[in-house]
Amino acid sequence: MPSQNPLTSCIFDLDGVIVDTAKYHFQAWRRLANELGFDFDEHANEGLKGVGRMESLEIILDWGNIQLSQEEKQAWADRKNGWYQELIRQMNASEILPGAMEFLEEVKGLGKHIALGSSSKNARTILDYIGLGEYFDVVIDGNSITRTKPDPQVFLLCAEGLNQAPASCVVFEDAQSGVDAAIAGGFYAVGVGKPESLGHAHLVIPGFVGWDWNRIEKYLNNKGI
Ligand code: BG6
Ligand code: MG
Repeated sequence: MPSQNPLTSCIFDLDGVIVDTAKYHFQAWRRLANELGFDFDEHANEGLKGVGRMESLEIILDWGNIQLSQEEKQAWADRKNGWYQELIRQMNASEILPGAMEFLEEVKGLGKHIALGSSSKNARTILDYIGLGEYFDVVIDGNSITRTKPDPQVFLLCAEGLNQAPASCVVFEDAQSGVDAAIAGGFYAVGVGKPESLGHAHLVIPGFVGWDWNRIEKYLNNKGI
């Protein structure tokens, strides 16, 4: 059934949609695992995308079959974040993923409302490094949420901040947990990446190059939610 709602808004995840910070998260988590005496690969890392810091740590500790006290967990999470912050310190606009800035410019020019919905507590710092802060009407990050993706809280707070119904918003996500969060919240979900890992999305695009708003809107309007 075609969509009844005009698509007024875009909500973007940050890591993996606007910038490729997944590689830095992976490096830092892997360093933590290695220091604890085990390893994991990029395939396993897929499952960490979109997931909050403490929740990611729990998953990784499980892989290594390691039990820690709450204080020890906090200390390791802080250490990982320190390594991660070292890695992202050199980030600048050159790390914006191909086509992302052009797409943001296009939807801004069309008068769409624009929000950032990220699980990361470093999201605002990264926006500053890459100079994209001004594009977003609303920023909801890891500091504003109590439940991590696949819970829809982050996107529902974005919609509330934009004063728009979820069914009028398109969420752009690179992680399965994020696509699931968008669908659970009643949003349109556009997966950015490989269809194998984003199968639940209404539409999967490999990246923003070659995709403009009209093409995406036409596709989603035909799908309807
Ligand atoms: C998400 C990333 O955006 O943020 C996850 O996809 C990351 O990999 C999560 O763990 C939390 O990030 P941070 O910067 O608060 O540790
Ligand atoms: Mg992401």
